[in-house]
Amino acid sequence: MSAAASASPIGVFDSGVGGLSVLRALRAELPHERYIYVADSGHAPYGERDDAHVIARSDAIARYLREQHSIKALVVACNTATAAAIKLMRQDHADLPIVGIEPALKPAAASSKTGVVGVMATRSTLQSEKFQTLLASLNGKARFVLQACDGLVDAIEREDAIQKGAACSDYTRAMGRFGSSEGEIDTLVLGCTHYPFVELELRRAIGDTVVLMEGGAPVARQTRRLLADKQLLAEPEALADGSTLFFTTGKAEMLANAARRWLRLEAAVSALQIA
Ligand code: DGL
Repeated sequence: MSAAASASPIGVFDSGVGGLSVLRALRAELPHERYIYVADSGHAPYGERDDAHVIARSDAIARYLREQHSIKALVVACNTATAAAIKLMRQDHADLPIVGIEPALKPAAASSKTGVVGVMATRSTLQSEKFQTLLASLNGKARFVLQACDGLVDAIEREDAIQKGAACSDYTRAMGRFGSSEGEIDTLVLGCTHYPFVELELRRAIGDTVVLMEGGAPVARQTRRLLADKQLLAEPEALADGSTLFFTTGKAEMLANAARRWLRLEAAVSALQIA
């Protein structure tokens, strides 16, 4: 692949601010890369909509990133979009490396001592064929307690402290007992990229000892492997500010606040309309 292609940015998208948890891991793993982040907050939450909506949005964003930014790879930083759309996206963009994210059930089952693993995700992710296949492949490896968390993405998007706290406390209570004794959930999979941003609220509800599993770091490592395979890794050079560009179909201020808070970045966010 040419030097020009390896200098192209990596596209990253999510239904909103959640994908910043993946972008954070990507920037740590691959600090010499340029990134274009798209938050589709104007069309969120994906997880309480039907597949057709998520597929159409994912397709429109992928086309935008290719046409306007000539991305060299795409990271689908959304469990819901990965479950609903990644198969089609790989068919439609066979020449583009695409990395998706899925709930970290396998490592959770492998490391849980009590053998009881909690999984929080969107309704759509839990109902998806992709997730059900993953779950079936781990039959007998652990007992999984699944919890759809309607409203939690919305509360995170709106930075609604009361709603975030209430949702975390209600949903974890509904899952049963957390702890390290027999029958208790000792490992909690955060199966939505928004949820790392309510870690404090979750900790308040379940305590400090439960292991939280998120998917950002494995996605970043997989992105590195894929780029290396295709000789698309950027040259190691110091990048100036502005090497990550932010776009949103929602409120610019919301994404700028989230980037400041979670990535410690003063981001100039551009508003975007993708039909
Ligand atoms: N961050 C998305 C995920 O990982 C949230 C989906 C939504 O908008 O409901 O599933």
